[in-house]
Amino acid sequence: MGGHLLLLGLLLSLPLTTGWTTSNCLVTEGSRQPLLNRFFLVCPMDSSLPFLAVCSSVSNLTQALKAVPQGVEGLCLFGSISVLPQDAFSNFPELKVLGLSLHLTQVLPGAFQGLRQLRQLSFISLPSKDHIFLAPDVFGDLRSLQQLNFLGPCLDGNLGVQLPPSLRYLTVGHSCLQDVGELAHIFPDLVNGNSSEDAWTLDILNLSFNKQLKIASPGALQGLKLGTLNLDHTQMKAAAVTQLGLQRLNTLSVTFTVTAELPAEAVAHFELQQLNLGANRIGQIALETLASCHSLKSLNLQRIGLTKLPLGFLAAMPRLQALNLAGNQLQSAMLCMNETGAASGLWSLNLSNNELHILSPATFSCLPHLRELLLWGNQLVRLDAQVFQGLQRLETLDLGKNPLVHLSEGWLTLLPALTTLNLLDTGMLLSQTWSFWGAESLNNLSLQLPSAPTAGAALSLPTRLTGLELHAVSSVKPWELSSNVFPILQVLTLKGWGLQLGSQNISKIFPALRHLFLIGRSFGVLCSQYNSSFFPWHLPRLQSLKIQGNSYNPQPCCITGLPSLQELKLEALQYIAQPRPVRLEELVGELPRLQVLHLARTGLVTLSATAFQGLGSLQVLVLDGERNLVLDDSLRDHSPQMPRYMYILMSSLACQCTNAWVEPWLERSPRTYTHILTKQLCQAEDTGHSKTLLFPFLSNHCPKTLELELFWGSSVLLLLLISLPLLQEARNSWVRYIQALFRAWLQGLRGRKDEGKRFLYDVFVSHCRQDQGWVVQELLPTLEDCPPAGLGLRLCLPERDFEPGKDVVDNVADNMAGSRVTLCVLSHKALHTYRCRLELRLATSLLLAAPHPPVLLVVFLEPISRHQLPRYHRLAWLLRRGDYCLWPKEDERKDVFWAWLRSRLGQPRLGLGGAGVLEGGVEKARQPGRNTMDVCEL
Ligand SMILES: *[C@@H]1O[C@H](CO)[C@@H](O)[C@H](O)[C@H]1NC(C)=O
Ligand SMILES: *[C@@H]1O[C@H](CO)[C@@H](O)[C@H](O)[C@H]1NC(C)=O
Ligand SMILES: *[C@@H]1O[C@H](CO)[C@@H](O)[C@H](O)[C@H]1NC(C)=O
Ligand SMILES: *[C@@H]1O[C@H](CO)[C@@H](O)[C@H](O)[C@H]1NC(C)=O
Ligand SMILES: *[C@@H]1O[C@H](CO)[C@@H](O)[C@H](O)[C@H]1NC(C)=O
Ligand SMILES: *[C@@H]1O[C@H](CO)[C@@H](O)[C@H](O)[C@H]1NC(C)=O
Repeated sequence: MGGHLLLLGLLLSLPLTTGWTTSNCLVTEGSRQPLLNRFFLVCPMDSSLPFLAVCSSVSNLTQALKAVPQGVEGLCLFGSISVLPQDAFSNFPELKVLGLSLHLTQVLPGAFQGLRQLRQLSFISLPSKDHIFLAPDVFGDLRSLQQLNFLGPCLDGNLGVQLPPSLRYLTVGHSCLQDVGELAHIFPDLVNGNSSEDAWTLDILNLSFNKQLKIASPGALQGLKLGTLNLDHTQMKAAAVTQLGLQRLNTLSVTFTVTAELPAEAVAHFELQQLNLGANRIGQIALETLASCHSLKSLNLQRIGLTKLPLGFLAAMPRLQALNLAGNQLQSAMLCMNETGAASGLWSLNLSNNELHILSPATFSCLPHLRELLLWGNQLVRLDAQVFQGLQRLETLDLGKNPLVHLSEGWLTLLPALTTLNLLDTGMLLSQTWSFWGAESLNNLSLQLPSAPTAGAALSLPTRLTGLELHAVSSVKPWELSSNVFPILQVLTLKGWGLQLGSQNISKIFPALRHLFLIGRSFGVLCSQYNSSFFPWHLPRLQSLKIQGNSYNPQPCCITGLPSLQELKLEALQYIAQPRPVRLEELVGELPRLQVLHLARTGLVTLSATAFQGLGSLQVLVLDGERNLVLDDSLRDHSPQMPRYMYILMSSLACQCTNAWVEPWLERSPRTYTHILTKQLCQAEDTGHSKTLLFPFLSNHCPKTLELELFWGSSVLLLLLISLPLLQEARNSWVRYIQALFRAWLQGLRGRKDEGKRFLYDVFVSHCRQDQGWVVQELLPTLEDCPPAGLGLRLCLPERDFEPGKDVVDNVADNMAGSRVTLCVLSHKALHTYRCRLELRLATSLLLAAPHPPVLLVVFLEPISRHQLPRYHRLAWLLRRGDYCLWPKEDERKDVFWAWLRSRLGQPRLGLGGAGVLEGGVEKARQPGRNTMDVCEL
């Protein structure tokens, strides 16, 4: 929400005539990163950043940065630029995270001047391909820098580069580093001193993925205090770290290195707390080496080829809390030798992917503190109840992917604290008598449904679940649920279809459901089961729905009628056998709260305005892997209401003239940020195999009438048609109306060339004579009086400021164009006044069509339902929430109204500078609850 509002502020502070769509940049909000994963793989960004941009094919920095909206806090540039000049980012003082994948060879002094808020800076390139030279004081201005990453570039040859004192993380990875000692020459700060006062401290020194790193010269990092040293994927031996001269080290990670034994000496030397030895060829561990490992709290021995554990393994590490033994060849887990052995403090044990066949009753008997036990992917066939004896605190148990067929009855009673149980991918025979009796705390269950022995077998599940995942083998007769209500179930995942659920009572069975994930056949069965093209589930609280088909669903159903749904993802719904073009309105219907719609390989072809009508809150639309898309030109009319972000990824636009309007629209659409894969190709029929770029082709080959300039003409025509009621009462004035509209449009066009245009007025107030009293007594003093009593704005009032003798239509159009904001005061009377309607119409038309749209605010003096608003001017769907407000009757609520108005007018001054204030104001006006919401959002 906050990000959204910030964006709104940003949007309004941008010159509106500039289109958002910038050829090579993708803009998004941090929280939306997961939707656009592939753009952030190399250059991950903080998800708390409100506004980020990723630009590709950057070859001229100045030019590329011009396209980046100011105010982004995260920026990632891909391209080829060899020299980073001075002052490169001075227009982006708010940057917090900056990633540069540019083949840089030189970074000049002052390149990062002004980036005082920068927290994270990354230089990225192909592994050890580019050499980069940094000016020694290049990071001098970065006084907030916490994280500095070099991923790829080689740094050898640099000398004496100063690090900012705020630095916590340093990564030099994928580079040519061969000796840890080189670091001290490049960054001498690291080895500044021997006394503990002036020693440099880093939380993480990450030297992973330096494939040639094999030397740790003695004293190479003399005096440095480190939290974590990461040497993964290097040719180092863990034991070598003792020579480095580090003053402190807590965590050492050396996975995928040439370490051949447990580095007992290093553990003892630093009193290490965490050691990650995964994926080294170690084979076995001798008890003697463990003797010096008593400081360890976390030990990762994943995939090191262990076949057995030494006796007394746990007893040697009394402080151990987390032990990962996954991916070894352990056939038995001799952790606890007998019941009398000393208890261990271990709380997490990962034995996944081993070769465990049987577990002796005493296996876990010395682990009374164990909370997490992962036995996934072993060979366990049966488990005796005694195995779990004593695991009083166990919360998570994963028995997935074991050929389990038997668990003794009542075994769950031994695990009173168990909350999460995974039984997926087991051969467990769930009989009707099998029950979860005793699982008092169980709230998260993953279960596989085997074929039901007889039709309609009843499945008894604990009813206090909050999360349930059910997988069904294909072609089973559905199970019936023996309990009817899961009152607190929030997360439900169904893979395949295995449950008999009547559609009518589904909201009774799962009244609290918030997240639903349907995988595979389940969706198809669901749709056709009820022989309906509509999603049959009525789930009033559902917030997110993900449907992942398997491309065998003959018919996608229309997801509709889910009042709380915020996020919807539909994937792989295309019916491979009989692909057919799908229209968006066949997939989604009435989803008033939907914010994110993600469609991937659904067979979607046509998008038209109709489909967006039920999606009033949509902010992000992602189309992925959809081919030959047609963006119907009804969208152009609808564009003020389009989602703020549209991403058309790995998808192609059809080479049809219907799409010809898209390019000009993209260039100047002020409200929607669209990212379309830039290389859209067109296979022209007459040119045989050669492919041409889509947009130039369309603009050359499609009839001129479809071009944007003439679109305005057609939009005027459209307006003309819908203004028939007006014609009846206004006779000849429609000609003037069109003239005025045209003139406003021309002015707008001219305005683009002259962007610093000054407005004659701040606010144009449109109202009818009957409402004049309110305007003069209430509005005028508040807006026009000098601060602090008023806002000191210049108002344009028809009876006061219109040029005498000039035609009304001309007066309205000229003054409206000369005002920064148009404020319409509406009442039932006003709606019946010709001039009011004309003004309203002009304002809305301009909003719809003008290249330089004004800000339109509407004040309702009395409640007016949407249906009472004249149909033709489509006011209801032109206005954004927060752009209209009801004048309250009660005095005590008037303050809220004024706060709203002040915030929308961006006090203390309008326009650019006011954005920040505006943002805060809207936030207030949007707080839920009685106080503001119902006043200011009709
Ligand atoms: C980069 O673009 C700017 C204007 O967009 C231009 O003035 C400058 O000469 C270009 N630089 C190079 C190296 O082409
Ligand atoms: C260390 O850097 C590598 C890339 O070189 C990265 O994948 C890894 O996540 C980093 N580890 C830490 C702990 O930051
Ligand atoms: C730090 O102390 C070591 C020996 O303890 C010495 O060899 C080294 O020169 C000293 N370094 C500095 C920078 O004082
Ligand atoms: C346990 O090990 C498996 C690998 O076999 C891994 O996927 C999983 O993430 C590990 N879990 C924990 C909690 O360490
Ligand atoms: C149990 O193990 C401890 C060592 O952990 C040993 O001293 C004791 O003799 C064992 N008791 C039995 C009954 O095996
Ligand atoms: C439920 O368990 C699954 C794994 O079995 C896990 O991924 C999920 O996060 C758990 N959910 C909760 C709410 O604990």
